[in-house]
Amino acid sequence: MPVVSLKDTLDRAFAQRFGVPAFNIINDLTIDAVLAAAVREKSPVILQTSVKTVMMYGRDQLFGIFAALVRDVPVPVTLHLDHCPQRSVITDCLDGGWNSVLFDAHELDVAENLIQTTEVVKEAAAHGAHVEGEIEGIQGVEDGVGSDSASVQQSLDVAVDFIERTGVHCFAPAIGNAHGQYKAAPVLDHQRVTDLVEATGIPMALHGGTGMSAEQFQDLIARGCAKVNISTALKECYMKSSLEFLRGAEEKRKWDPPSLFKAQTAAVTDMAREHMRIFGSSGRAW
Ligand code: 13P
Repeated sequence: MPVVSLKDTLDRAFAQRFGVPAFNIINDLTIDAVLAAAVREKSPVILQTSVKTVMMYGRDQLFGIFAALVRDVPVPVTLHLDHCPQRSVITDCLDGGWNSVLFDAHELDVAENLIQTTEVVKEAAAHGAHVEGEIEGIQGVEDGVGSDSASVQQSLDVAVDFIERTGVHCFAPAIGNAHGQYKAAPVLDHQRVTDLVEATGIPMALHGGTGMSAEQFQDLIARGCAKVNISTALKECYMKSSLEFLRGAEEKRKWDPPSLFKAQTAAVTDMAREHMRIFGSSGRAW
């Protein structure tokens, strides 16, 4: 069973009001570690790749790694392409096996974004794949995509019209969230999530998860954020566990790569399990 569609996993999460964690994996080890967490927690999970990671590996190599690692995993997994402004990369990933994409055309005006997102939804449908839509930039640069300036919110009517006319399966609103670590606790426009969910009936994607409190996650999930993105926390956990291990290795003058991989995997798995418990996705695999 392991690979399931975005709509399947999000519709269940939305109906039952839990959040499916969407981790930005960066290599084989982090895929493996996140999958191990999902298995231990019996949680559905979304593995998402930035455009940068796709470019670093090459599409086929990255998909090959994903397919090999997910093959015997007994929990539902979705493979999603995170923030992608380039239509050619969207097409390439849909052709290459990704079953979900975020077409991030927020830099276009909403009318043009709407036309192009409608085309992407149609293109994805031909592959049995689903689409997350976005009309407002999420503040913060991640893997070379995005901007540090605060995002401009569109009106509720504009957002609802975009969602209804494009047929996107999930929508990423700007609600005061940002990619990367927050400098101060974020003040989130949770009412906007409620308003969008009430008006459209579709699940929302919560971006900028790193640094939000358990209460913020749980409140937003209860309002309809069924996809919850975590990237920076994974990267920091991976790098910091590596640093700590390597400092110890230097001290002991013992250079054993498999022990490093074990330490990295354990740290990333623990971090992912903690998020699954907070999001209420533990025990929800079907
Ligand atoms: P963080 O890096 O803040 O966890 O955000 C992740 C994200 O929203 C990816 O699109």
